[in-house]
Amino acid sequence: MPELATERVIVPARNIEGSLRLPGDKSISHRYALLGGLAEGVTRLTNFSTGADCASSLGCVAALGARVERKQDGTVEIAGVGGRFRETGGELDCGNSGSTMRMLSGLLAAQAGSFKLVGDASLSRRPMERIRKPLEQMGARLRLTEGHAPIRIEGAALTGIDYATPIPSAQVKTAVLFAGMQAQGMTRVHETVRTRDHGELALRAFGAGLERTKETVSIAGGQSLRGIDAAVPGDISSAAFFLCAAALFPGSNLIFDALGLNPTRATLLDVLTALGAHIGVLNLEEKHGELVGTVQVNAPPQGLGGTTISGALSAQLIDELPVLAAIAPYTQNGIRIRDAKELRVKESDRIALVAGNLRAMGAEVEEFEDGLDVAGGQALHGAAIDSGGDHRIAMAFSVAALRAQGETLIRGAESAAISFPEFFELLESVAER
Ligand code: S3P
Repeated sequence: MPELATERVIVPARNIEGSLRLPGDKSISHRYALLGGLAEGVTRLTNFSTGADCASSLGCVAALGARVERKQDGTVEIAGVGGRFRETGGELDCGNSGSTMRMLSGLLAAQAGSFKLVGDASLSRRPMERIRKPLEQMGARLRLTEGHAPIRIEGAALTGIDYATPIPSAQVKTAVLFAGMQAQGMTRVHETVRTRDHGELALRAFGAGLERTKETVSIAGGQSLRGIDAAVPGDISSAAFFLCAAALFPGSNLIFDALGLNPTRATLLDVLTALGAHIGVLNLEEKHGELVGTVQVNAPPQGLGGTTISGALSAQLIDELPVLAAIAPYTQNGIRIRDAKELRVKESDRIALVAGNLRAMGAEVEEFEDGLDVAGGQALHGAAIDSGGDHRIAMAFSVAALRAQGETLIRGAESAAISFPEFFELLESVAER
């Protein structure tokens, strides 16, 4: 993984042009790493995420007895434990990764033994009650620290439950399914807003049976997993920074090969289309249930229009909202975001940081408990950006900086390595000056 400087200067660009192949999707890499760790046999993964978050998932399954090897060519090989994790006396370090902590808790809830999960300062502030409730209903015991990590899990023989997720969360849904697959009887998760379905697709890929209707996923207990060979699709949430950057420059042309296009993740393409950008999709293929394809983006000559993102859309775009808000001043009619309160409990309070940083660049922004109003037709100037140690904030404002007057300093730029260590290098490779 490249060592990233803690501060980066972003110089405005004239245009964005090029072709990119991005490292593997973070959500899929986590799920393949965790299930590969538990499965019987060997899992071989190419284009695995290069981010520190997915390395945390690999580190945890290694500590639990799986043999994990990263080959010279980047392939990750995991020899799984065959259904039973080893109890470790030590702590399972989830780093900055909420996905690791929440989804691994689902797997460990059904495992004999006692496990302690810890995370960094940011992860230790994030809500964990949302997994404690369903996993305790199933029969495990989870001791939190005032609703947060560190988490102490006493695994147990679990019983299936019917669980309606109170907030849309793919992490919670996946944690319950991961526990349910090892429980006795059926587990059903009901979600009114359909969240990303990589957990369901990964379970199927590893050989577990499950059923999905419009709002419910059902999984029988007592199932075992077999290792897989897979190429992880490029990360569309990482592509989002480049898609939004390209959408800002009339005359831009950017192509992504082998990009993950799972419909529960590709909402950004609809939003950019609604804003007026031209998006083309070619060479669609399905791999282990995941759609992969080539995407081309061109900006509209007249500039981007405006839009409102609310309701189910906000949940489906949750990781892309910071960059959409960061480019909103450059649209004609602005972007309004609502029903996105979850942004306040991500790696940082993303609503507060987006508003603060947009203001630092000279924009007018209105902040709401569950969103933001960013008017269009605003010019921004370079400024010192506080990323708050949050990878998506650092990257979002690097994109905003491309169209600002003057240079922008990104503080805490090294946080990009949480999901996308190659970000700055690739941004330089497509930015024309
Ligand atoms: C993720 C789900 C989302 C997202 C996170 C990854 C996943 O979180 O923000 O980056 O892989 O399931 P929630 O499901 O908690 O909203």
